[in-house]
Amino acid sequence: MNISEIFFGKDIISLDQFDRKSVELLFRQVTKIKKTPTKKLLKILSGKIIALLFFEPSTRTFSSNAAAIKRLGGQTIEHQNPMQNSSVVKGETIEDTIKMIEQYSDAIVIRHPLVGTAKKSAQVANIPVINAGDGIGEHPTQALLDMFTVYEKHKHLNNIKGLMVGDLLNGRTIHSIIKCLSLFPNNTLYLLSPKQLRLSNKDLEEAKKRKIKLVEIKSFEEIPADCHFWYWTRVQKERFTDKREYEKLKLTFILTKKLVEKKAGKNTLIMHPLPRVGEIETAVDTDPRAVYLTTEPKNGMYIRMALFSLILGNS
Ligand code: NCD
Repeated sequence: MNISEIFFGKDIISLDQFDRKSVELLFRQVTKIKKTPTKKLLKILSGKIIALLFFEPSTRTFSSNAAAIKRLGGQTIEHQNPMQNSSVVKGETIEDTIKMIEQYSDAIVIRHPLVGTAKKSAQVANIPVINAGDGIGEHPTQALLDMFTVYEKHKHLNNIKGLMVGDLLNGRTIHSIIKCLSLFPNNTLYLLSPKQLRLSNKDLEEAKKRKIKLVEIKSFEEIPADCHFWYWTRVQKERFTDKREYEKLKLTFILTKKLVEKKAGKNTLIMHPLPRVGEIETAVDTDPRAVYLTTEPKNGMYIRMALFSLILGNS
């Protein structure tokens, strides 16, 4: 299959849809897009409208999707907070909302608090649907931009040693990254979280069937030397029913400048999908290895430009 057969007209719901070749082809497209002159880029989505339906708050995913579409000459219909600002308030079902929106647009990007909503939307819609985060499920485009960032720096996605810290139970980016890295050989992820926020048994079992090694560690002392990346995450407040439990766990593992100096390798990328809420000291921001405020969000726009160009692009 060539690149356009793989992506054209397709939904992006989960990393389960990808294999090594499709990730590599997508990354190649990102590199191509980065080199394409503006005038040419503007033709790619000319005449296309993409709906952004964000049922949960977002800064980066929303803005980078909007920027990607506009940089390709497309336009957007934007619903932030449809729970309050759309007919959802009147009781409209997600199925009906999707059927309406597809009358007006060429693709839908959806973020929703319930696992499976992107998939359900894709089943209803006759236009491509892109999952921008479904509850604690997956966030495929964030994982792809994160792994592109790792690939761009280290030039490979096999033989990777990564560290993932924080809310592994509820972090949807984590779930997609594990699937992404399992498509490439010899990867090991070290997992560090409060025990209440460990990766679920279901996810651990599933990972065992894949080609990836997961090693749970209990403290900073156990972080191995020379990781290719450290991926810090926020404890996901909105998934807690007991807010006291959240308060207790939220700052269990704080990334400090001291820890970076002591344990990070010379080429260890310091990553975070953002927002951060205290779990990375601001003193780390100026470290040249820290990419969470720079390369990572920038690549978020490029990965989405690459995806839209492949899924919808005028050839
Ligand atoms: C993440 C998300 O929404 O899952 N943020 C993002 O999309 N960049 C991570 C988070 O909210 O903690």
